[in-house]
Amino acid sequence: MIEIQENLILIVDDKSYNIELLFHVMQLNGHRVLVANSGESALQKLQIVCPDLILLDIMMPGMDGFETCRRLKADDKNKDIPVIFMTALTNTEDKIKAFKLGAVDYITKPFQKEEVVARVNVQLQLRNLNRQLQQSQFQLMQTEKISSLGQLVAGVAHEVNNPVSFIAGNLEYTNNYLEDLISLLNLYQKHLSHPPEEITQKIAEIDLDFLLEDLPKMIASMNLGIERISDIMRSLRSFSRKDATQKKTADIHQGIDTTLMILSHRLKANKSRPQIEVVKEYGNLPEFECYSGQLNQVFMNLLSNAIDVFDEKVEIGKQNTPQIRISTGLIDDNTVEIIIADNGYGMSEEVRKKLFNAFFTTKPEGKGTGLGLSISYQIITETHGGSLECSSSPGKGTQFVIHIPI
Ligand SMILES: Nc1ncnc2c1ncn2[C@@H]1O[C@H](COP(=O)(O)OP(=O)(O)OP(=O)(O)O)[C@@H](O)[C@H]1O
Ligand SMILES: [Mg+2]
Repeated sequence: MIEIQENLILIVDDKSYNIELLFHVMQLNGHRVLVANSGESALQKLQIVCPDLILLDIMMPGMDGFETCRRLKADDKNKDIPVIFMTALTNTEDKIKAFKLGAVDYITKPFQKEEVVARVNVQLQLRNLNRQLQQSQFQLMQTEKISSLGQLVAGVAHEVNNPVSFIAGNLEYTNNYLEDLISLLNLYQKHLSHPPEEITQKIAEIDLDFLLEDLPKMIASMNLGIERISDIMRSLRSFSRKDATQKKTADIHQGIDTTLMILSHRLKANKSRPQIEVVKEYGNLPEFECYSGQLNQVFMNLLSNAIDVFDEKVEIGKQNTPQIRISTGLIDDNTVEIIIADNGYGMSEEVRKKLFNAFFTTKPEGKGTGLGLSISYQIITETHGGSLECSSSPGKGTQFVIHIPI
């Protein structure tokens, strides 16, 4: 059984004795009441308030109840408010008309107090139930979205892991074999200082000196590439819950510093902007239990988004030195606060509202997946029971605030 809490009821009637009576009945039953003595006045009030239920008289001078109902149902903001018509008419046609206009019930005059209360309460209960249903449906969808995201990422990471590890493994042998071959070649050169014409020609043709110089570099860069892929795969796996092992104590400053190191090449000056200055304001933090790999992922996302802004919207960098500020601290005995702020272009309120939605991105195709923040949000709120909030003023900058209970 759902309790009827204090609800706001709008009574619309042109007769003051009706209003008075209903006012008292509703107040006695613990509801707040708002009155309007005409359809016009009701519509005006609905611009500023959002009642939980409307009691609407049909016969009124000026705009009648039917027209009032039609207009309020045409407004997205008000269309879901239940309307109960009040009528002296026992005319079936009018009742049908009322239902067609979206009324949920009607009561006839003269009023029976108990009946009015009962009908109003039934509609309020229905409305509350409906709201709860919508809320749980939303939560279900949200969970579904996040878990299928995790599964997708885990699946991809798993598939890519095998080929990557066998390239990485073979690359090491390839390198050893090459070193052997090169030293053998060196031996030949040492002992055959005057090779036959065919060999001299081949050496010139393949530019042996260059080849010998370049080959180790190529192997080294392949190694680097593979390491990077493995890193990415590792962090992808840490996104997905399947991989979540156990919380461990960790020093998050170390995590932030590592992340900055990985991003260091992106902080450097480039053609369109000066170097990005990083200001660290690290407070005294105890080591605490967390999934540090996942938190690093959050830092990575927030920091690379900030760098992206400086790279995309360069005009702002003309006056300001691009700057990222990272501050940490305890806000009380058991809450860690981490703030990552930039003085970049900021974002509109519209963008801010959709920020944490999966696949929401303002970046060109191929550049952003729109997953960075939705995954970060999941890691902070779901995995760590904390909160992640963003505030931004367009033209001035953006600030992300993380709270984690410890
Ligand atoms: N610091 C910031 N300043 C301004 N806008 C931002 C900032 N951080 C995020 N945004 C906006 O939020 C959007 C979503 O960010 P999110 O990290 O989720 O996805 P993305 O960066 O577009 O793609 P990716 O999945 O590659 O991270 C961005 O496209 C950008 O418009
Ligand atoms: Mg991003």
